[in-house]
Amino acid sequence: MPDQEKISSRNQKVKLKKNRGRTLSSKTWLERQLNDPYVREAKKLGYRSRAAFKLIELNEKFNFLKEELRVVDLGAAPGGWTQIVAQKVNTSLPNSQIIGIDLLKMDPIQGTTLILGDFTEEETVNSIKTLLNGPVDLVLSDMAPSTTGHKKTDHLRIIGLIESAFFFAQEVLKEDGCFVAKVFQGGAESSFLKVLKKSFGSVKHFKPNSSRKESSELYLVAQNFKKEINKNNML
Ligand SMILES: C[S@@+](CC[C@H](N)C(=O)[O-])C[C@H]1O[C@@H](n2cnc3c(N)ncnc32)[C@H](O)[C@@H]1O
Repeated sequence: MPDQEKISSRNQKVKLKKNRGRTLSSKTWLERQLNDPYVREAKKLGYRSRAAFKLIELNEKFNFLKEELRVVDLGAAPGGWTQIVAQKVNTSLPNSQIIGIDLLKMDPIQGTTLILGDFTEEETVNSIKTLLNGPVDLVLSDMAPSTTGHKKTDHLRIIGLIESAFFFAQEVLKEDGCFVAKVFQGGAESSFLKVLKKSFGSVKHFKPNSSRKESSELYLVAQNFKKEINKNNML
């Protein structure tokens, strides 16, 4: 695994001299990509997204990836997280399985099953459940809804996605299982956090170095799922 400190300290600034018909926002985006050490490192290591480093950092801190593991990765495209999971998990072991799902089509990743669908639709959730061949150790969600620009609508969409990921985790996780989800500062309702804290032995927030400072995203890591409590405990 790459050394996070070395990655974040590489800092050669690239400035585009010519616009070449680009709008200001696409020029700004391209400059940010060219100056982003995580984008460069991801390319070098063959990771499909810089997001891969967020999962590496989360795992370094919370140590939830194991050799034998059944994992569902929600909002998996283009596949950076799924690639990291596939590197860590030995899928030839009997209790190992990796399922990724996204609205967007993904190129195959060896040892994984990738589903194209909207996670908020019952049909998609049912197809994941049908594919599962046992209780799940880890539910990952890096899902982020597309934004409308309308603050209240965007906020509700974010909450909706996180809650549906949690409902799913409640149904499929095994005792002591783990739920890792992207949330946004000011995004998670306190009533939701309360239920989460009842459902898991430990609930922590973490912002990886590879998560852009200007982004309000952070990750919630809930470990030691209490299956018995969750039978009667819905939001
Ligand atoms: C930040 S990206 C995930 C990056 C990924 N973890 C990686 O490492 O490459 C967020 C993803 O969530 C997906 N997404 C958003 N809403 C979704 C939904 N309702 N169902 C499935 N996927 C969804 C988007 O299509 C997008 O690909």
